[in-house]
Amino acid sequence: MRSISLILAITLTGTAYAQQGPVKTDAYHYKIEKAITASKGAVVSAHPLASQAGLLMLRQGGNAVDAAIATQLALAVVYPAAGNLGGGGFLVAHLKNGKNIAIDYREKAPAAASRDMYLDQNGHANTALSQDGHLACGIPGTVAGLFASLPYAKLTIQQLIAPAILLAEKGYAITEREASSLNKRRDEFKKLNTQENAFVKAPLWKAGDTLIQKDLAATLKRIRDNGRAGFYEGETARLITAEMQRGHGLITTADLKAYEAKERTAVTFPYKAYQVVTMPLPSSGGIALQQMMGMVEPYPLNAWGFHSVAAIQLMIEVERRAYADRAKYLGDPDFVKVPVKELTAASYLKGRMADYDPKKAGISKYVPAGSIYESTETTHLSVMDGEGNAVSVTTTLNGSYGSKVVVGGAGFFLNNEMDDFSVKPGVPNMYGLVGAEANAVAPGKRMLSSMTPTIVLRKGKPYLVTGTPGGATIITSVFQTLINVLEFNLSARQAVDAPKFHHQWLPDEVVVEEDFDQTPLDHLQRMGYKIERGTTIGRVELIKINEKGMLEAVGDKRGDDSAAGY
Ligand code: DON
Repeated sequence: MRSISLILAITLTGTAYAQQGPVKTDAYHYKIEKAITASKGAVVSAHPLASQAGLLMLRQGGNAVDAAIATQLALAVVYPAAGNLGGGGFLVAHLKNGKNIAIDYREKAPAAASRDMYLDQNGHANTALSQDGHLACGIPGTVAGLFASLPYAKLTIQQLIAPAILLAEKGYAITEREASSLNKRRDEFKKLNTQENAFVKAPLWKAGDTLIQKDLAATLKRIRDNGRAGFYEGETARLITAEMQRGHGLITTADLKAYEAKERTAVTFPYKAYQVVTMPLPSSGGIALQQMMGMVEPYPLNAWGFHSVAAIQLMIEVERRAYADRAKYLGDPDFVKVPVKELTAASYLKGRMADYDPKKAGISKYVPAGSIYESTETTHLSVMDGEGNAVSVTTTLNGSYGSKVVVGGAGFFLNNEMDDFSVKPGVPNMYGLVGAEANAVAPGKRMLSSMTPTIVLRKGKPYLVTGTPGGATIITSVFQTLINVLEFNLSARQAVDAPKFHHQWLPDEVVVEEDFDQTPLDHLQRMGYKIERGTTIGRVELIKINEKGMLEAVGDKRGDDSAAGY
């Protein structure tokens, strides 16, 4: 078998490297590329080795879907906090034949789940159970999603999964950030698992250590050899259900066998001369994005200017209104009737802004608990190829390392996605989001998401591919990235790195990043806004077509995010 160094070395003749001559890069020595310009294809993801795996597929004749599948599989190995086999995600693509697709591989509640499963005898919500350990796990959707994407790819699963198997089997050097993230969770990994796993190291992880994942390699090989059934049936399914039994979780063999990814109709809407393509329910992201873009469109944002008080205040007010609607109306469309047409109609959005006052803060009814949780443990990847295909994928375990439960003998983390249900109306989840009946737990139901993988078309062709992790802040991060480019004409780099602000209706406060300019915030405070400074917001991966028609891929400065292209 070819070594990982050889496989990765093959990928390294692209433009970023061509001028520098040969660069020694393999799974133990690699470099983060924050921005690249390419002509034939580009991938940007949360980890350099995962972006390289995607690029390798493009070089082998694959298209953007191939690259997206291989990148996701590699992320499941090199980015265990969020890249996953045990979680779920969404893929949005614009294909070269003009078709838009949206694949939903969100986790589902197990058949034994019930509406009040996280309430104690007194009716109080116990979010410790929806957030950590075996009861927090939804039925994983990722592997079904990869196989539902495969008909749009050109290469075989054997080719697409090869880099992931090598990275798991031979190991890779972890970064400083990964070492500290694994060390931070060490006690929880121990407490929540009944078997030893690869993620706890004595004494502690440090940058440059090699992480080898033999159990995960074996799981990946079963998927390579048996397809979907290599995960949802047979040995992997047996290991998952044995893990559930040890930890008193709910997922059964029947749940696994019945899980299906779903192809849905992408949300598409015009914004001025552009067409936006994004994720429908069970993500709230697409609808909320459409609402926000629709609410700001009539106002002269460009004339007001980037981060002007007027622009920030308008954007806060549209965020407040979209998140309020999210909390009340949105849930799994297979279970609840959601008035999507009504919520996104131009007349409704105009009416929604009738009480917007450019001089004063609006008021959300105050709910005491909940504030924005600081985490970036979902992950996004953006891909464009030279054929005109664009793919945008956001995938997650929910919190950092999900439930922190590693499937014994199978080597991967299970999600804690059950916390994205509204465990009780009005009780905030780990991102401070509240919900209602539409997002209550029910067997087989998908929990509402905020993940917003998005593509913007110009003259019918891909222009931007973007998305981000960030829990509740995902939708505002995508919204602000689009506005930064489409209204304020920022470069890809500036649009991604610009400090962000976030309002999610409840709690009624504006969260801003550490490096946000104080001057507009002073004005906003005088208008009545409560401002909270401190958290980082989003880790956006953006590919943009520049003036010369080249692909510009930018990985967020907020992480180890890295771009690759040729
Ligand atoms: O689907 C959702 O909206 C959440 N589970 C996403 C979680 C996330 O982005 C974590 N990163 N901060």
